Amino acid sequence: EAERGALKDKIRRLLKEKNAVMVSHYYVHPDLQDLAEETGGIVSDSLEMARFGRDHAAQTLIVSGVRFMGETAKILSPEKTVLMPDLDATCSLDLGCPEDEFSAFCDQHPDRTVVVYANTSAAVKARSDWLVTSSCALDIVSALKAKGHKILWAPDRHLGGYIQQQTGADMLFWNGACIVHDEFKALELEQLKQEHPGAKILVHPESPAEVVALADAVGSTSAILKAAQELDATEFIVATDKGMMHKLRTLNPGKTFYEAPTAGNSATCKSCAHCPWMAMNGLAGVAHVLETGANAVHVDPAIIPRARQPIDRMLAFTA
Ligand code: 13P
Ligand code: SF4
Repeated sequence: EAERGALKDKIRRLLKEKNAVMVSHYYVHPDLQDLAEETGGIVSDSLEMARFGRDHAAQTLIVSGVRFMGETAKILSPEKTVLMPDLDATCSLDLGCPEDEFSAFCDQHPDRTVVVYANTSAAVKARSDWLVTSSCALDIVSALKAKGHKILWAPDRHLGGYIQQQTGADMLFWNGACIVHDEFKALELEQLKQEHPGAKILVHPESPAEVVALADAVGSTSAILKAAQELDATEFIVATDKGMMHKLRTLNPGKTFYEAPTAGNSATCKSCAHCPWMAMNGLAGVAHVLETGANAVHVDPAIIPRARQPIDRMLAFTA
């Protein structure tokens, strides 16, 4: 505890000294969420992390999250230094969508507008027409459908399937999944709901369709937070990374939140509702990179202008 306090003090001091600001995702450790907010940064979803990093005056950004978030920050602000506690913090969606295979897939379908989820490498973004996050995917695909576009969607097949079901758009899918959300189970969720009949079910759309079908509210991390505040209930079952529980509980002290069931216990399931890559972020890592300048995110300058186009489009659409 004393060590945690000392690390936090050190980070507060170094953030000031280095003209740095910290941006955290809702899935990282509560310490990093609270510290980001307390020191003038934010904790948010991936869309708002991108916007905040772009608009903030600080010369150095500390991104507590996963690699695609650091890369997006760098693409939007190549002149800034972007540091991450651990550069190996990746994402199963990014890993499952290598640029060469993805490019070949796009080449086979030149008549389709390429819509790519934020959870991808800079090179995959550079091959796309539009970037989306889970908080704006529905609106962007609806708008494209209204203009007659046929869509090539990558990489999350569950989110893609949900958007297709909601919009009726003509969509062709890449076969990717998030190892965290893919583990939520519908049958066990129904059983838990029977134990708490008054509870509302909140689901991130990276979850399987049978789980989404049971939801009272479906949406990005920020949409889940909003639903918990607005829905008329005192109990909630939450199907997203358990990192989210910190903000849900602090903002709603009178309400009870249960974790949605996953495939197994910690011995059998791969992630157990907590992203192993998000978990690589910690106080010691943040202090280390601030002190040493280690773990700077690099994106090939040759692809930055092309990768930036779909991100700018998304940010303009959602402004
Ligand atoms: P959002 O924060 O955009 O909902 O994304 C969730 C996610 O999977 C980040 O890893
Ligand atoms: Fe990727 Fe899933 Fe982890 Fe988010 S929670 S970073 S989508 S693996």
